[in-house]
Amino acid sequence: MPVTTCVFDAYGTLFDVAAAARGLAEQPGQSQLAELWPKLAADWRLKQLQYTWLRAVTGDHVPFWDVTKDGLDWAMEAAGLDDPEMRETLLALYWELPAYREVPEMLAVLKARGMKTAILSNGSPDMLDGAVDFAGVRTWLDAVLSVEDVGIFKPARVVYDMVGKRFDVTPDQVLFVSSNGWDAAAAAAYGFHTAWVNRAGEPMDRLTADPAHVLSDLSGIPDLAGTL
Ligand code: LAC
Repeated sequence: MPVTTCVFDAYGTLFDVAAAARGLAEQPGQSQLAELWPKLAADWRLKQLQYTWLRAVTGDHVPFWDVTKDGLDWAMEAAGLDDPEMRETLLALYWELPAYREVPEMLAVLKARGMKTAILSNGSPDMLDGAVDFAGVRTWLDAVLSVEDVGIFKPARVVYDMVGKRFDVTPDQVLFVSSNGWDAAAAAAYGFHTAWVNRAGEPMDRLTADPAHVLSDLSGIPDLAGTL
């Protein structure tokens, strides 16, 4: 069956999560972040994701906003940053993450070619609404699906089930796109066509299945979807 539906992970795939720490580091008076911000951003992201996996395994679900705050607290402490004002600013910036440059045109082309498009994200609905509106991409999205509807984080299979339920499609009609290697691998094991957007040139995760396609950014997604 041809692909009819393109589904995107949100954070790190459509929206640049490093932009919060990078953006604050660029503001006047933030010289202490000039060297620290890349490690702060990486630790924040890694802890945020680790907490989602651990909470999925132990069944202790909380909204993504909570693990986002917990991850930042860990990362700031690791960096020796005890600064409540900086914490509040970084958290506020997380609601205004920019989309990657190619995102609007890529989504517009998919819609012009008749594809259904959606986000499927760990993000809670309010966070996703904020990100989608800030990036100005709502007009090209048919659905914004949040794990809050099933109460467990990716890569639980019940999260990927949300796509078939929402669009009445089988997994082989879906192209799932993620910059998170583990998310793309889980989606491949689930039976979706998959594209891993590997901007950083990282090694492939060693998991149950490999994503079938590896791209360096999102601009090739419409043509890829048209061949599947
Ligand atoms: C998401 C995280 C995994 O948007 O980036 O689901």
